[in-house]
Amino acid sequence: MTRRVLIAGNWKMNLLRAEGEALAAALAENFAADGAADMLVCPPATLIAPVAAVLHGSAVSVGGQDCHMKPSGAHTGDVAAAMIKDLGGSYVIVGHSERRADHDESDATVKAKAEAALSAGLVPIVCVGETEAERDAGKAEAVVESQIRGSLPDGATETGIVIAYEPVWAIGTGRTPTIDDIASMHAHMRKVAASMLGGADALRLLYGGSVKPGNAVEILGLADVDGALVGGASLKAEDFLAIATAAG
Ligand code: 13P
Repeated sequence: MTRRVLIAGNWKMNLLRAEGEALAAALAENFAADGAADMLVCPPATLIAPVAAVLHGSAVSVGGQDCHMKPSGAHTGDVAAAMIKDLGGSYVIVGHSERRADHDESDATVKAKAEAALSAGLVPIVCVGETEAERDAGKAEAVVESQIRGSLPDGATETGIVIAYEPVWAIGTGRTPTIDDIASMHAHMRKVAASMLGGADALRLLYGGSVKPGNAVEILGLADVDGALVGGASLKAEDFLAIATAAG
């Protein structure tokens, strides 16, 4: 089974309009559609429309960083999955550890958001990952398994969702798990997902946490790593393009 690599950039709460448009333009101009990878950027909600306009007709897709679990209604400040779709989005990140921590999002909340994404025709990128204390206690695989079991949406299919493994302690720190630890976690994740979906050969599993041009070749070379979810390095066109090139 060949899974197309997905290189996804999470811009988090960064960039004003002119900066986002310039970054998107640089990616659109330099990312070749005929390579081994798909490229996705997830700007802040305020920039989805202008970034989508810049990316129109290019090989780079756009997505959201979060969506509400309800299709519409009285939820001040929130964004519905259909609104992201309406602006040209095709993916949405749900359950990022920063949202799990900053907004107390539980697995049940993440699951409901992923279901809202599917209903709106978006591919949810469901994020999981252990804290440093959980890894030190030898519980990393158990924590990630429990997050997957609790967060995957009903109605998920192998090609309709993406799962991203982002160890909390590796995000923005310059630290990463060992290559063996990433390999064994991803193999475990595929096994767990397969037991829920009836198979996971076509399911894309991303690694995230301090992915840089310098470590991308090694990480993306692992059999069960089908792409990367990139924070800091996705804010520089040169670095993000280099990571995509590392996909082969
Ligand atoms: P960094 O690449 O900055 O470590 O962030 C990873 C991340 O959280 C992507 O969602």
